[in-house]
Amino acid sequence: MYIDKISINNFRNMKNISVNLNNGLNVFYGDNAQGKTSFLESVYLCGTGRSHRANSEKALIMFNETESHIKAHVCDEYSNYKIDVHLKGNDKKGVAIDSVPLKKLGDLFGHLLVVVFSPEDLELIKGAPSIRRRFIDMELCQLSHIYYYNLQQYYKVLKQRNSLLKSIYKDPALISTLSVWDEQLACYGCEIIKSREGFIEHISGLAGKIYGEASHNNEALQINYKPSLSIKNYEDKLIKNRLRDIQLGSTGLGIHKDDIIFIVDGYDVRGYGSQGQQRTCALAVKLAEVELIKSLKKRSPVLLLDDVLSELDIGRQDYILRNIMPVQTIITTTGAYDIISRAGKKTFIFHVQNGNITFEGPSFMV
Ligand SMILES: Nc1ncnc2c1ncn2[C@@H]1O[C@H](COP(=O)(O)OP(=O)(O)OP(=O)(O)O)[C@@H](O)[C@H]1O
Ligand SMILES: [Mg+2]
Repeated sequence: MYIDKISINNFRNMKNISVNLNNGLNVFYGDNAQGKTSFLESVYLCGTGRSHRANSEKALIMFNETESHIKAHVCDEYSNYKIDVHLKGNDKKGVAIDSVPLKKLGDLFGHLLVVVFSPEDLELIKGAPSIRRRFIDMELCQLSHIYYYNLQQYYKVLKQRNSLLKSIYKDPALISTLSVWDEQLACYGCEIIKSREGFIEHISGLAGKIYGEASHNNEALQINYKPSLSIKNYEDKLIKNRLRDIQLGSTGLGIHKDDIIFIVDGYDVRGYGSQGQQRTCALAVKLAEVELIKSLKKRSPVLLLDDVLSELDIGRQDYILRNIMPVQTIITTTGAYDIISRAGKKTFIFHVQNGNITFEGPSFMV
């Protein structure tokens, strides 16, 4: 799967941009604060309906504008189509495929499979559990519509249960109505655990192999899933924890508290790993994602690498450049020529300057 053309209007610092992309390697180079990450962000938005770095949609629309449009033309072996994302500031965004509006944002998943790797992904290892849950959820949503549905339902029920907990605190007689929410939470929660278990097992195997190859050593990476509750006694534990939940006014246990841990040679990388080990770990997980999508969806995702090469040593940079061969890749960097000279394949080069993107032609250096 690849994007052959993308048009961007009023997105971040990009007023009116239209670029044709190579189905292999594309390098976007430019000084700081010119629009490189914004370009990748627009691509990610077309794949997932969300930004990979901002929570507020308003921040994506160009200052002093009220709307933004992104149109991506996507091709794969089976078909080609146009994805249209329309950001409207205060209003809900609109998404259309071939000009047919989607009823639910979830229907967008799968039309443009994307994997992004940026310096902030180190937070996947070092940051809060919520970052790791977001990672699992975004990947699984791209892979499975059922997962997206279960997750949405879970969070709806969780919101209702939490609001009921607060009411029970004031009016204890309401406790009899809690069971219906516990049952539903357990039902969606267990489905989500099953999907997460399978996903982590897959990713752990693939990332372990990549980690070993990328670091040229014998260290072994393993990724373990740490669910907050187990399928065996999910509902029972919810019931046992009721009193505490009522006191706190929120649900303390469940899939919204899950975590994963990254282990290298028996040690938790978060607490014991070097900066380089943590970075290689994040890289391995991202490249594993590409492999997983390829094997499960029978399509290659588009890989977005945001200024990550400069943070890796030459051996690891070469490993990436060699291994991204078969997927469309968009790399941003502040200096293009080092990458091009080592990529050894046809590369499209774009210069990003003050929100404008200029195609500088293909390079064929080997
Ligand atoms: N909503 C917006 N409207 C207009 N400009 C914006 C908006 N949001 C961010 N910007 C500006 O867009 C510019 C480009 O930001 P971007 O993060 O894409 O830069 P970059 O080329 O990736 O830089 P770096 O190399 O430092 O990562 C910045 O100057 C930023 O302040
Ligand atoms: Mg950037």
